[in-house]
Amino acid sequence: MATEIEAIAWQDDAIVLLDQTRLPGEVVTLACSDVDSLVDAVRRLVVRGAPALGAVGAYGVAVAMLQCQREGWMTDRLDAEVDRVRDARPTAVNLAWGVDRVRPFMARGVEAVIAEAHRIVAEDTAANRQLSRVGADWILAHCARRPLRVVTHCNTGALATTGWGTAFGIIRELAERGEIELVYVDETRPLLQGARLTAYECDHHGIPYVVQSDGAAASTILRGLADFAVIGADRIARNGDTANKIGSVSVALACAAAGIPFVVAAPSSTVDLATPSGEAIDIEMRSGDEVTAWSGVPTTPSGARGFNPAFDVTPASYISAVVTEFGVIEPGPGVTVDAIAGGAL
Ligand code: MRU
Repeated sequence: MATEIEAIAWQDDAIVLLDQTRLPGEVVTLACSDVDSLVDAVRRLVVRGAPALGAVGAYGVAVAMLQCQREGWMTDRLDAEVDRVRDARPTAVNLAWGVDRVRPFMARGVEAVIAEAHRIVAEDTAANRQLSRVGADWILAHCARRPLRVVTHCNTGALATTGWGTAFGIIRELAERGEIELVYVDETRPLLQGARLTAYECDHHGIPYVVQSDGAAASTILRGLADFAVIGADRIARNGDTANKIGSVSVALACAAAGIPFVVAAPSSTVDLATPSGEAIDIEMRSGDEVTAWSGVPTTPSGARGFNPAFDVTPASYISAVVTEFGVIEPGPGVTVDAIAGGAL
């Protein structure tokens, strides 16, 4: 069995990140022991993916506390630096969730914060493992063809989490059960999280895949080449509306037109009951340069302006199932995801 990919580690008072901007060509790590370098790493997507950002938020509080001790900050400055970690990216609720979960431990000292961050990591990996089993069971009950062909968008594997993966975790689970024929990996423009990272994880685990351009996904689905699609989430609103990587909603629309399941998978930490619907989700706008150039080389006429929302919102009405470690909700009028947000089912 392949080793697990480790995106985040806590070592020698620093967060050590597998630098995802360099994959798949180079496997190198980056250690962040101050808030500036951590915020920069989060914004540049050295580390990315909602559950991974939850762990980074939690360890980030420890980084800020240690820097505070070294540099003798006043309490106000420490609070502001913790907020800077919390606000480094707006859409994935897990980043703020991770910071908020360890904040009450600050009064007990940095070791207590680190211990709570370790608990978040362990819980996230266990949640991903569980939601993958639950999601795989749901898919096998709702798709007739065997083996299965699946479309996925962005990267939702171990690189995007603390271990195993969410949507990709379901694919791994199905592959381990011998049920996967082929994964259509959407390349995921503009930063190629699918082509660079999901393809890397498929290779790592020996899962058969092809990389397709984002523009091919709807056609693949309408031509009957896929049995279902599964994506992760950056924030799931109370009514089931889901923010995820830009391009996700196009996959959902195609699945609805083709009559195949479109599944959203995430740990309960990604469910945000305080957000009633997708309209209230803050969508990160990134530099237009990510669309008009690649690796610093322009791909458009000089002066062309890029439009670069990093995420979109798929309305719950286009989602067949939302899966967390607590179970499955099939969205519909008046349905909320409360029951899978934490504890009950
Ligand atoms: O901009 P990114 O790479 O952080 O976007 C990540 C995604 O959209 C993922 O699908 C989502 O965070 C779920 S990761 C399990």
